Amino acid sequence: MATIGIFDSGLGGLSVLRAIFDILPNEKYLYFADSAFCPYGDKTAEYIQDRCRTISEDLIRQGADIIVVACNTATAAAIATLRKDYSDPGDPAVRERVLALSGGHHDHISFIGMEPAVKPAALGTKTGVIGVLATAGTLKGSKYLNTKGNFEDNCQICEHVGKGFVELVEKGQLSGEEAESVVRESLQPLLDHGADTIVLGCTHYPFLVETMQKLAPRGIRFIDPAPAVARHLTDVMRKDGIALSRGNENGSPKRPAVKLMSSGDPKALENLFNLIYPRR
Ligand code: DGL
Repeated sequence: MATIGIFDSGLGGLSVLRAIFDILPNEKYLYFADSAFCPYGDKTAEYIQDRCRTISEDLIRQGADIIVVACNTATAAAIATLRKDYSDPGDPAVRERVLALSGGHHDHISFIGMEPAVKPAALGTKTGVIGVLATAGTLKGSKYLNTKGNFEDNCQICEHVGKGFVELVEKGQLSGEEAESVVRESLQPLLDHGADTIVLGCTHYPFLVETMQKLAPRGIRFIDPAPAVARHLTDVMRKDGIALSRGNENGSPKRPAVKLMSSGDPKALENLFNLIYPRR
């Protein structure tokens, strides 16, 4: 059985855990929500890199075989430095560091990041206009800007920061009047531009998709990249030789075997987890 470490600036990464658990139901999970330091969206890259290093080292110490950076903002700011520090077994300093952290189990750790799903949106739009909702940090990241550059000739790409979205999800306020008014403010400008496909470029946002659907005309597509990230994770695990569990004959578990950890309020994390996986 593999141990998959997942972290986010807060609760949003649970949308990624959900997609991973859908295809890897028998692995063990370590989930870390950095809610005390959330949001990352308006922090400097150095600050985010520092948090990501601390969290990743903790996950490796706790037995993670691979780590999913379930946060678009953290991916934009820190995945390159994480890979440089922990992923190349050809670098003697990396080997030494990871062997020490993992108690000799691994000489490197791979990191899987998030990427706004611009490609499927650009290929699927009928109006020729797509909307991207993300944090300011993600929208100015070079990864996003490169991807955007590749598709700008095919369609018009409108962007908006989901202002206040992360805070709503951290409070567990996924619907209701206040959620609708916050969501409307960032979603409406994209709809006004004629976007028929909206990319959810922050892992918190899928938890607000029902509110978005309520406010948008019928037929607007919302794209969450988490299922694609989950498939990519499986490929990298195979390449890394990380043994996947065979499962057991009693069928798949209904809830992931996960250790939930938070630098903030552990109750908020548990509540959202229980909303996704209600206890019977
Ligand atoms: N879930 C994070 C992301 O995907 C939230 C960003 C934040 O903390 O501002 O970008």
